[in-house]
Formats: sequence, structure tokens, C-alpha cells
Amino acid sequence: MTASILFVDHTAMMGGAQHSLLDIAEANRARSAVVLFEDGPFARALEGRGVRVLRLDGGGSLRQLKKRSALPGLGALVATVRLARTLARVARPFDLLYANSPKSFVVAALAGRLAHMPVVWHLRDILGEGHFSRANVRAVVSLANWSAVRVVANSRATADAFVAAGGRASLVTVVHNGIDAAPFDALAPGTRAAVRAELGIPDDVFLVGCFSRLHPWKGQTVLLDAVARMPDVQALVVGGALFSGEAPYEAELRGRAQLPALAGRVHMLGARDDVPRLLTACDVVVHASVLAEPFGRVLVEAMLAGRPVVATRGGGVPEVVCDGETGVLVPPGDVRALREALDALRRDPARVAALARRGADHARARFSRESMLAGVHRVILEVAS
Ligand code: UDP
Ligand code: GLC
Repeated sequence: MTASILFVDHTAMMGGAQHSLLDIAEANRARSAVVLFEDGPFARALEGRGVRVLRLDGGGSLRQLKKRSALPGLGALVATVRLARTLARVARPFDLLYANSPKSFVVAALAGRLAHMPVVWHLRDILGEGHFSRANVRAVVSLANWSAVRVVANSRATADAFVAAGGRASLVTVVHNGIDAAPFDALAPGTRAAVRAELGIPDDVFLVGCFSRLHPWKGQTVLLDAVARMPDVQALVVGGALFSGEAPYEAELRGRAQLPALAGRVHMLGARDDVPRLLTACDVVVHASVLAEPFGRVLVEAMLAGRPVVATRGGGVPEVVCDGETGVLVPPGDVRALREALDALRRDPARVAALARRGADHARARFSRESMLAGVHRVILEVAS
């Protein structure tokens, strides 16, 4: 018999962490539920998959806790403790709390202590390297050492950063993300041509795609700067400004796309829910993060769509993409290296096809949804027993 799990996330926006939890929660839905601290698209997506969602009003106070701020204010602390007490009450019928983000882990760690329940933290962030302030890293790592029974890391790099920050190595299990291949298998053969026709992009144009939420660390500006010097190339920029503070970056990108060097060659589509078919319209997919990417689901998705990836070397990316085998890695923030990598691929269709073929095989063999679910299941069984 499996444990009954109360999953917890602070946000109801759909980032990669939420896409991943969607699969995990669905697989465990018979005896589990998901607590969210706000309402939004993630809540509806979970319910659409038959997962019970409990909404606890606490998002407002948690939004005051910023990843890169120093210490939180007294108001945010009081609100966090209050939310933890409510979560402890809601959690009583369950065997296990399973937090999907640092903010929800803070609340779950306190709630777990209050309710005498084990807490698992699915860590999907690289703690450090510009993502979080030192004070925040110290706080969450101390909380983990004090109260988590297990930390599931989405990559070796994420695990190593946790340990480097003082986290106990014996807590950590690496479970790479896995992606359901079914939506890619279901794509009709004419999808590439259909999407290009919809977007008004001629079939013979070399199209480079980027599929990430719009945030400065995702590095879309680097891609646009590279494409600015490649006059025959067009760029597809997919993703929205999901979280607070990201709107000015979106405005900056849209402004840059209108500059004479790029005008008419950048297609900014905003957030979309048809990523697999949009991926097939591209010749190459670029993942340009300028800070260490913890995992990068979109890398696996591009490989499943049979598209080669040019990605920045950092974080978990080299665990997903083997340089020269299943994709090409370039240094982060290096416009010239990115341009040269894209140019080389443009001139070598045979290499593009070989990278894509090996990438598709690799993604199916190493990053299946089933293997991710099995990894999480093993952790839950160990904790529950
Ligand atoms: N995504 C999406 N629509 C968009 C842009 C991205 O559905 O417009 C999905 C994308 O397919 C991927 C996830 O959002 O599954 C992003 O996850 P990733 O791990 O690449 O990055 P994160 O945003 O979690 O840092
Ligand atoms: C986070 C990370 C991303 C990872 C995702 C799923 O959002 O930024 O790299 O793929 O979680 O684990």
C-alpha cells in the first residue's frame, strides 16, 4: 500500500516545477491531494487530471519572501508561522508532506514539526550562484537539515549545490525529471508545415526556438543578440512572464525585437500550452540560461520533438545534454559562441539530423516519465516504511 501524500506548492502558476508535480500528483491521486497557497492555472490543471486540490490562502504573505532578499520582515515571518499551523491541521489525515518549492518547504517544514509528520522536499533549484541570497540559502538548508526526512534533487548539480551550502548529503536522492513522450508521439507528420503556415514563417527559413518563461536568467536577450547578427535566421520566443517582477523584462525583449537589426524576424508568442507542436516548427532549440539551470525540462522536450539543442553549459544541463552527441553546449552569456554554434549547425544538416536522432533516443531512454515516477515512488516507500 502506498502512503497518502499531501503535496504542497506555493504557486499556482505553471513553471517547470509545477509541470513535473502534475505528473507526480496524478500518479498518486488515489490517496493524495495538493495544497496550493493561491488559485490559478496549476490548480485547474491538477483538477483536470483528477487530483484533489486544497487552496489555503497564504500566497500574499509568501510573496513578500523574495529569493534574493536578505532576511524576511516580521510580518512575513508571522504569516508563515500562521500558514504552517493551518497546514499542520489540514495535513493530519495524510502520512507525509511533500514540498515542491523552497517557499512551500519552509511552511511544510514547520507544519511537519507541529503535526509530527515526515517532510520530503523536492528540491528543483540550485541554491546559490545568483539565484538566492546567502541568508535565504542558509535558512532553507538549516531547515532541511533540521526537519526533512529526504531531499529529492532534480539533478546531480542541484544535489551538489545543496551539499555545498551545508545540506546533509545523506538526505539527498537525485531523481531526474522525466517527460511524457505521448504528446510528441501523437504529432501528425505535417505539423511542422502547419505551424509554420500559422506563424507566416516560410519553410526554408532557419528557425531557432527558445521555450522558457521570460526571466532575465533564462537568457533570451543573449539569443536575440546572436540572431541580430544572423540576417537570414528567425527566432521563435515562447513563454510568458509568469512571476511578479518579470513584466519589465518582457517589455525589454519586445522592445529589442522591434529594433532594426531584428524587426520582422522575432516571433514572440507569449505563454503557450502547445509546446510539442511549436517545437517541431524549429530547426534548432536554444536554451540560453545565464545562471546555472537546475535541470531544464525543455531540453528533454526538444529532444523528444527530434530537434537538436544548443544549450548553455551550467547546472544540470550537462547531465541532460551530452556535448557533441545529443546537442551542443556553449558558455553562458556568450553571444558569439552561440552564434557560431548556430551557424555551424545551419551549414551542416547531416549533423543536425544525427544530433536530433541521438537526442530523441537518449531522451526516451534516460528521461521518461515512468523512470521519474519510479524514483519518486522509491523515496516515498522508504520514507513511509
Ligand atoms: N512551457 C509551457 N509553455 C510556455 C513555455 C514553457 O508549457 O509557453 C513549459 C515547457 O514546455 C516546460 C516548462 O514550461 O515543460 C518549463 O520548464 P523548465 O524546466 O524548462 O524551466 P523552468 O521554467 O521550470 O525553470
Ligand atoms: C525548476 C528549474 C528547472 C527544472 C524544473 C523541474 O523550475 O528551474 O530547471 O527543470 O524545476 O524540476
